[in-house]
Amino acid sequence: MKHFINLRDISSKDLRKILTDAKKRKKERQKLSNLEVDKDLPLKGKLLIQMFEKSSLRTRLSFYLSIKQLGGSTITLRPDELHLSKGGESIEDTAKILSNFGNAFMLRTDNDEKLLEFKRHLSVPMINGLSPSSHPSQILSDIFTVEEIKKKPISKLNITWIGDSNNVLNSLIEASVKFSFKLKIGCPKSYQPNKDVMRYIKYTKNEILIFNDPKKAANGADVIFSDKVISMNDKVDKIKKLVNFKKFKINEKLMGHAKKDCIFLHCLPRGTEVDEKVFASNQSKVWEQASNRVHVQKSILLYCFSKLR
Ligand code: CP
Ligand code: NVA
Repeated sequence: MKHFINLRDISSKDLRKILTDAKKRKKERQKLSNLEVDKDLPLKGKLLIQMFEKSSLRTRLSFYLSIKQLGGSTITLRPDELHLSKGGESIEDTAKILSNFGNAFMLRTDNDEKLLEFKRHLSVPMINGLSPSSHPSQILSDIFTVEEIKKKPISKLNITWIGDSNNVLNSLIEASVKFSFKLKIGCPKSYQPNKDVMRYIKYTKNEILIFNDPKKAANGADVIFSDKVISMNDKVDKIKKLVNFKKFKINEKLMGHAKKDCIFLHCLPRGTEVDEKVFASNQSKVWEQASNRVHVQKSILLYCFSKLR
C-alpha cells in the first residue's frame, strides 16, 4: 500500500511508471466511452471514498471516472454530514471506519495537517486531491499532457509558470526536480514562493529561476502554465493582490515572448489572469489537460494499490 500525498515523497522512477501506465491505458481504451471499464478490471471490488472540504468540479468527476474505469466504485462524503466536523468525532476514529468500509481515501482539504493526521490513522492508501500547499494529481497529469502534446520528455522543454506562488506551483516545482526540467517562474516580488519552498529549491539545486518581469519568464518557453491569482485558501487582501498581478496577465503580447509553438495550460477554474484570446486560441490546451486527469489518476490509483503494470 502506498500513499499519494506529495510528489517530493515519491521516487522519479515511480512517477515515470505512473505516466507510462497512463499512456498505455489511455491508448487501449480509445474506442470506449466514459463508463465502460478497462478489460483487465484491476480494481474490481474496490471502493474509493472521496471527501471534499472545498469546491471541486474536475477532481470530483475525474476520480469518479478513474475508479469506475478500473472496475471499482466510489462514494463522495460531505464533511458537513459527518460527525468529524460537527459532532467532534476524531480523525483517528473516522480513519478507522474509512479503512474498514473503503479501500482508498481521497481528500481535498483546507488544512495540510489533516492530511498527515489521516495518513497516520488510515490503513488504506490516501490521495491528496488538493491542499493549501500542493495539488500533486493535477501536476502529474499536466506533465502527461505536456509530453503527449509536445511528443518529447519534459526534461527537454522550457517550462514557465506565470502567476501566484500557490499549491499548484509548489507541485510543479517538485515535479521539476523529479523529472529534471528547467522551470522559470514569473510573479511579483511580494508573491514569491514561501521560505519552505525556497529552501527546497535551494536544497535540490534544480534549475528554477524566479523573475519579477513576466516577459523574462515567458522568454523562449515551450509551455506556459498559469492559475488563478486568488486561490480557495487565500486569506489576503484580494483587491490589492489582483492589482499587483495586473502586469502578469497572460495576453497575446506576453505569449509573443515564448516560442511560436508554445502551449498554454491552466488547471482551471480560471480568473482574470489570462486574456480570453489566449484562453480560446489554438495554443491553449486546457480542455485536453482537464480530460487527461482521468487517465493519470487511474495510474495513481494503481500505484497506490501496487498494481502498476
Ligand atoms: N483543477 C482542479 O482541481 O479543478 P477542481 O477544483 O474543479 O477540482
Ligand atoms: N490554486 C487553486 C487551484 C484550484 C484547482 C486553488 O487552490 O484554489
